Amino acid sequence: MGKTLIAYFSKAGENNVNGDIVKLDKGNTEIAAEYIKEFIEDADMFKIETVEALPEKYEDLFAKVKVDQSANMRPEIKNCPGSIDQYDTVYIGGPNYVESYPMAVFTFLENFNWEGKIIKPFITHEGSAFGHAIEDITASCPGAVIKDGLSIHGADVRGYKIYIKRWIRN
Ligand SMILES: Cc1cc2nc3c(=O)[nH]c(=O)nc-3n(C[C@H](O)[C@H](O)[C@H](O)COP(=O)(O)O)c2cc1C
Repeated sequence: MGKTLIAYFSKAGENNVNGDIVKLDKGNTEIAAEYIKEFIEDADMFKIETVEALPEKYEDLFAKVKVDQSANMRPEIKNCPGSIDQYDTVYIGGPNYVESYPMAVFTFLENFNWEGKIIKPFITHEGSAFGHAIEDITASCPGAVIKDGLSIHGADVRGYKIYIKRWIRN
């Protein structure tokens, strides 16, 4: 049987937490990804990071996300794996950035042939859950079997460990 990959985007620093701008030491999605790894010990992890540094300020990042979405941008990402052939299940995670995953997640996804792969999507958010992220990954990953996703309220991520465990086993 093939291995499992946990690929995720997450950003520490200024974020929206229950409506307030708060500086996070570690991104919420990264915490969720680490919980998944705790339950699937032999999984590999890959953090999706853009070559271009993201704006530090929440408002600047928000404005950039809107511009990048309108341009359907695919920002360059660091150290992208050459292939995912050795994996049969790929957990894909990220924050909800204006109703979908950050564009860098789609840069990652569109590098690979998804025929026959299982995708388990997870997202952290402040109220929008997946938005249209599932439709968007379906379009970017033809041939993949996309399983039920897990949406996590980012501000409460530490309380989701038990739900993450159950979701992985289903
Ligand atoms: C630029 C930006 C846009 C966001 N847009 C949304 C949104 O449209 N809907 C939502 O529910 N949360 C939104 N959020 C909140 C994040 O999805 C949430 O805080 C998430 O847990 C952050 O994950 P991370 O810490 O792993 O980066 C946004 C956050 C940022 C920084």
